[in-house]
Amino acid sequence: MHSTEWLGRESYQATIPFLDEIVQGDCRHLLRQLPDECVDVVITSPPYYRQRDYGGMGMGNESSPQEYIENLLEVFEQCVRCTKSTGSLFFNIGDKYENGSLLLVPYLFANEATRRTGVKLINVITWVKPNPEPRQYRRRLVSSTEPIFHFVKSDHYQYHYERFMAHRDMMRSRVRAGNGIGKRYLELIEQSDLTPEQKQEARLALQQAIEEVQRGEIASFRMKIRGIHSEAYGGYEGGRKSHLRNRGFTIIRMYDRAIKRDVIECPVIAVKSPNHPAVYPEFLVQELLHLTTEPGNLVLDPFIGSGTTAVVAKRMGRHYIGFEINPQYCEVAQKRVAETAVQPSLLEFFV
Ligand SMILES: C[S@@+](CC[C@H](N)C(=O)[O-])C[C@H]1O[C@@H](n2cnc3c(N)ncnc32)[C@H](O)[C@@H]1O
Repeated sequence: MHSTEWLGRESYQATIPFLDEIVQGDCRHLLRQLPDECVDVVITSPPYYRQRDYGGMGMGNESSPQEYIENLLEVFEQCVRCTKSTGSLFFNIGDKYENGSLLLVPYLFANEATRRTGVKLINVITWVKPNPEPRQYRRRLVSSTEPIFHFVKSDHYQYHYERFMAHRDMMRSRVRAGNGIGKRYLELIEQSDLTPEQKQEARLALQQAIEEVQRGEIASFRMKIRGIHSEAYGGYEGGRKSHLRNRGFTIIRMYDRAIKRDVIECPVIAVKSPNHPAVYPEFLVQELLHLTTEPGNLVLDPFIGSGTTAVVAKRMGRHYIGFEINPQYCEVAQKRVAETAVQPSLLEFFV
């Protein structure tokens, strides 16, 4: 059995060319062969403006930022056309210094992309690199972040908020459940100037909140005790403030495990691949696919390089299409994908 048959490959295959393939060629031509609205998500890192030479081929070495942005927009417009109305497009683009000043190329592109195509830019996710290239400029700081623009075509985009960075939530909640949650609050109740009746009421309310956490009804809570914790600024008098004054305590229930921030922290692949000069981390792709796709969806990368997007998509049980202009990189990508096995994530079944 073909490794992706269980995902319904046959039903896709009849209408979509290049399904589960890495194809050598210029994406500006290849994209035109894809039908409208067939792709669930585009994830890509185009060649950055004048940063690298990918074998003297393809985009990135235009003579001005404007020319580069025009070429990139041609690709972007095709990607938007191929993406379903429920789909997302992620573009990771780095900037460039010229005469000691940043050109802001990624932002000029994002601005023009939204203006021309009508897509919405819902987040600029910051990729934070804990291991940037060790340079000592003395007159400026070392860049250690890159933007990933998240565009959508409509307000009903597919989105799995709870799956983004879900492994962190799981670790946090395990720690919280095991660390004697509420013990410290019990001590504070005893130390407070609440009346004996108020202390008893506070202990019962605390016990109830602990049980709600244990039953998974709430993710967490905070308790405020009069004379110990500060009052909240602002807010209306009848709310928590009056609870704190009259009952002597208040409990704030939290329903989400964690605030999901627009940040992905993960190292750059420090050991340069002999096969490609600019490989992006698999973890980045994995988190973006968790956030915006389901198993069986189709992921497109028009600048696939060494194949990272397709490798992660296949591993996570998604279909993929990759385009790459350089025949050598294309071969590397095809080999990497062929060596990848489908390994659906356990997280998708539990969160
Ligand atoms: C930044 S790299 C992508 C790296 C990739 N994310 C990875 O992890 O390996 C950009 C790639 O786009 C390719 N490229 C440049 N112009 C292209 C074009 N017009 N069509 C298809 N690929 C192109 C380059 O050869 C290069 O491999």
